[in-house]
Amino acid sequence: MTSHAWNFMTSFLTYETNKSVVVKSWSVGIINRLVQLLIISYFVGYVFLYERAYQVADTAIESSVITKVKGFGKINSKIMDVADYIHPPQGEGVFSIITNIITTDNQVQGTCPEISVFSLKGRITGVCNTPVGYCEIEGWCPAEDDKKNTTTMAEFVNFTIFIKNSIRFPLFNVSRGNIQGDNFKCRYDKLTDSFCPIFRVGYILNELQQDVEKLASEGGEIGIKVEWICNLDEALDSCVPRYSFTKLNSPFEKNKVSKGYNFRFAKYYKALDGTDFRTLHKAFAVRFEVMVTGTARKFSLIPTVINVMAALTSIGMGTVLCDLVLLNCIKGAAQYKEKKFEEVIDYKYIYLYCTNSQNMSSQDTLQRQFNQILQSD
Ligand SMILES: *[C@@H]1O[C@H](CO)[C@@H](O)[C@H](O)[C@H]1NC(C)=O
Repeated sequence: MTSHAWNFMTSFLTYETNKSVVVKSWSVGIINRLVQLLIISYFVGYVFLYERAYQVADTAIESSVITKVKGFGKINSKIMDVADYIHPPQGEGVFSIITNIITTDNQVQGTCPEISVFSLKGRITGVCNTPVGYCEIEGWCPAEDDKKNTTTMAEFVNFTIFIKNSIRFPLFNVSRGNIQGDNFKCRYDKLTDSFCPIFRVGYILNELQQDVEKLASEGGEIGIKVEWICNLDEALDSCVPRYSFTKLNSPFEKNKVSKGYNFRFAKYYKALDGTDFRTLHKAFAVRFEVMVTGTARKFSLIPTVINVMAALTSIGMGTVLCDLVLLNCIKGAAQYKEKKFEEVIDYKYIYLYCTNSQNMSSQDTLQRQFNQILQSD
């Protein structure tokens, strides 16, 4: 029993290490070093410097946006201020600037002829007035005529949008805001004032090469992107937003229907005799959407260690390619093969084969191998 345990201990407490074959060949040596260099430069250049594998990233940015628009314009010779042209009025990250309105005044409940057969403005009564070609409807009358000529608010290019954005990266508990200092006279310009949070609408439309006339009369959708890319290994002051603009309705620009952007709203009044009447507005608007995205990165030990390990392991990959070349492609490959793969030969089998074989040349080779094996032993 004790001798069994002793045997087990001696066979357990051993260490095996690989036996290496050193090949003094320039061509294989060059291939080996080139492959290693390639792998090292991939890890250093791409994985560590470009992809920054030594850092952890937080993309779950928390963000809050408040907006404020300023400026005066004119629609159908009526002066419009912020309360008239901004919808909704709360100053959210998504808002519309109304640039064109078709108003239908003094609508009351009743029956009247329909103006257009394509978009019904009320319920059909069934009475049709053939000489005019339109049917009678029941609803708010007179019916809206949205083919009316209007003048759009061209001045909206001079309006300014102020964006207040505060963000937080929850993983690192870092909060930042997009306003530095108290300069509220600045105007955003990507070259001269790229941190200014006040944007002239005309500047945005110019950057997007939008047709201002068309946009004002049909409406449209525009995105203002605020991107926070922060390297928290550097000073916190370098964690600043970058602004860019995008046309959100470009997928629908070729559509015949539903191009642009419009919506309807009404203002209700009561006459002295108690009947309700209303003013209907069909508003064409430019809808702005402030979109905040961000990534923060910071050094972390675990990904660093894992990636260094992966790099070191991958350097060993070079041997696979070198073996391929060594054992198949270069002169003397057979000798290398012999050295690399030592065969353990069954002596009895060789003896039988040698004595029975009629093939002299193969017999000779086997004999030589046999002697070699005997010598090396
Ligand atoms: C915008 O403002 C500039 C300078 O104040 C003025 O010259 C221009 O006419 C304005 N544009 C519109 C469409 O009102």
